[in-house]
Parts: sequence; C-alpha cells; structure tokens
Amino acid sequence: MNIALIGSGGREHALCRKLKVSKEISNIFCIPGNAGTAKISINLNIDFLNFKLLLKTLKSHKIQLVIVGPEEPLVRGIVNFLEKNNIKVFGPNKFASQLEGSKAFMKNICKKYNIPTANFKICKNREDFENSINKFKLPIVVKADGLAAGKGVVICQNKKKAFEISNQIFKGKFKSSNKVVLEEFLEGEEASYFLIVDKNSFVRFGTAQDHKKVFEKEKGPNTGGMGAYSPAPIINKELERKIIERIVKPTLKSLKDKKQFYRGFLYVGLMIKDKNPYLIEYNVRMGDPECQVILPRLKTDLLKIVNYSLKNRLNKINLSWENKKCMTIVLCSKGYPGNYSKGKIINIKKFKDKKDLFIMHAGTNKINKNITSNGGRVLNIVGKGQNFNQIRKKIIKLIKKINWKDGFYRKDIGWRVIKKL
Ligand code: AMP
Ligand code: GLY
Repeated sequence: MNIALIGSGGREHALCRKLKVSKEISNIFCIPGNAGTAKISINLNIDFLNFKLLLKTLKSHKIQLVIVGPEEPLVRGIVNFLEKNNIKVFGPNKFASQLEGSKAFMKNICKKYNIPTANFKICKNREDFENSINKFKLPIVVKADGLAAGKGVVICQNKKKAFEISNQIFKGKFKSSNKVVLEEFLEGEEASYFLIVDKNSFVRFGTAQDHKKVFEKEKGPNTGGMGAYSPAPIINKELERKIIERIVKPTLKSLKDKKQFYRGFLYVGLMIKDKNPYLIEYNVRMGDPECQVILPRLKTDLLKIVNYSLKNRLNKINLSWENKKCMTIVLCSKGYPGNYSKGKIINIKKFKDKKDLFIMHAGTNKINKNITSNGGRVLNIVGKGQNFNQIRKKIIKLIKKINWKDGFYRKDIGWRVIKKL
C-alpha cells in the first residue's frame, strides 16, 4: 500500500524511518518532508493546509492511508475532510483536536470531570481579565486560547506583564485566539506521557522528558524542544496508574459523553508535584523531539498499530519495546528561537547511521547535492544504550565530529537522570 506522512520535522523523519521497515508499505510519500525523509521516501513539496490540492495529490499517487504529524492540519479538520473523501487517515477529528486547539475547551473538560490541573479563568475580554487577575498569586501564567506555534504561553512575574500579554492576545496577535486563559503557576517536574487511542480503548506509548529552554541549566526562552530522553524514570507504575485513572480516562469519557471519540497519538503534558500528576496541556500528536526517542525503542510494527487503531481493535494488541534507553540532542541554527539564517551547508554525508547512533533530520533541505539548514531545529542526533551518561557522551562525540559552525546545542540534556555534570 502507498501511504502519506504529513509534516517536515524530526518527528516525521522518525515516523518515516519506522514505517519504512513495515513490509506492507510499498511507497511512503512525505508531504513536504525534509532532506532525511527524501533519502528513504518520496517528498512532495505541496502546502498540506490546502486540503483540495492535498486530496488531488493523494489521488494522483494512489495513496490509501495518511498519517498526520503536526497539530495544525488536525485542528483545521484534515481528518474530517479526508474521511469524507474516502481516504483513510490516522489522527483525531476536528472536534477531538480541540484538546490541543483550544485551551479553554481542555480546561472546561478538566473542571467538569475533576481532572487535576492548574486553577484557571477563561477571559473573553479585558473586563473579564481585570476582574480575575487579582484572584491569582504571582507568577501568573497567561495563555492564548488557540494554536500559537509554541508562542502562546507566557509566565508573568508581575501584573504589568500579564496586562501587556493579554492585551496583545485580545488585540489579535494570534489569529486563532481571542480568549485568554489565566492559570495558576504549577511548581514541579515536567514529563510527557504518550498513548495511541481508538474509539474503544488505548495503548500506552511510552514516556519522555523534553528540555524546552534554549540554554543549559534551563535558562533562556522556550523552544520547541532542545533534546529528550525516554523512558522518563519519574513516571513509575504508581504515577502511571494515577495519570490513566485521573486524567486519561475522564478525558476520553468526556468526549464519549458528547458522542465523540478520539483516534490517534495523544500526548499528555504533565507537571509532577509530590508524586501526583497535573495536566498542563494535551497535544493531539506525537511530541517533537519526544517521538525521536520513543520510536527507536518500539519493536512492534507501527503500521500494524495504526491499523488496529483504525479498526478500533487496540484492546487486542500488545506492544513490545526494546530494553534500551534512548536520547536525542537537537542541533540548532545559531540564533534560534530568535532570528537565524537558513541555507547553511552541513557536512554530514560521511556519517553513516549505526544501529545505536544515528541522525534524524528536522529543518534540512537538499540543494545541489548539499544538505543545508532550513529551520531553527536542524538535526536530531539520537543514541541508544543502557546508560544515559554513556549515550550522551557518544552523541556529543558525533556532534563534535559534525563540527557545524553555524549551529549550537545543549550539552546538559538528561541532567535529571545523569546526576553529575
Ligand atoms: P503549553 O503550551 O501549555 O505546554 O505551555 C508551554 C510551557 O509552559 C509548558 O511546557 C510549561 O513549561 C509551561 N507552563 C504552562 N502552563 C504552566 C503552569 N500552569 N504552571 C507552570 N508552568 C506552565
Ligand atoms: N516537545 C514539545 C512538543 O512537541 O510540543
């Protein structure tokens, strides 16, 4: 069968590599993909948010199944559109995608179903905001309701800043948001928990911890993620039980109660405090770079899991995982997450992937036989092994060999699980 993968990041290269080993797949088309996916599949450079053009392209390449990587097409209803046009698609529909697409939608579910999360207030306008701000202690978290490409959350140390940020949101800084969500600041340790879900059940899909801040020692502005590792030891059996019982099950029930359901990857973003999980956010997709450290540990055929989900038979599948740990460090363009240049040559052709040390591309392009940078997060160097400290050492050794003058990376990825630095 021919399948299409939507997206162009490290997550999509990781998905593509995993699907590539599936015997049932004849061709993988990545829309639009990157220089890494181009090596193992066929890239189609079209705008996937133009659903009509996408449909035409899918038909002309006889594509029978679409797997969606990023959130934006899901939130805009790509699943409803493709299903209506008789193309099988793996991902949540427009209604269920509101779990990520609207923070107000998600928080209202938490309130109604008693799901542990930060106290909050949804403000429709400035008057609401002014009436609510004094009910929160500092720091206060100000969020745009809708998708904001990772820029919609600001932790404000004073009220002046909270006024400023919320004014920008009310004035339409993010087209997708005219509401502001105010939240209590949660202390604790962040971790990510993953599931694959269908109409009737779900399977656990691993744990990971990301590093969102751009600089070492968790300093500087937030990024898409500078590195990750899996599994996350903080999520032990007891905590997992609490996550499922207190957060996942009530959320899936809330959709059922509305005669809706969820299908696809589900990413539960958590704050862990005093051994209890609090929901920070849902993402209706795999995490990036978390996907790059979870998929290399998966032994089960990914297409098989996707097919079981599409047939609502996930309760009949057991996943098997390698007994190894996995880490990735992201090599970024200098200047990221602020301004950076694109089109810088990276000499990586001489580095052949090894079983436990390999490169996944993110923002890369191939121009005249050269691999060039095409984004802020450019490469994910991924390593596997028995010990996080040794894995990190071998990743850093490879990054030093790559010696990309226009890039930078964090040397302290995994500090929580590697005590001595
Ligand atoms: P979100 O887009 O909701 O994931 O928020 C981005 C980041 O902001 C999260 O990964 C957390 O690091 C931080 N964050 C969001 N909400 C809170 C909160 N209520 N308390 C503390 N940190 C938060
Ligand atoms: N790594 C965070 C995210 O994918 O949203």
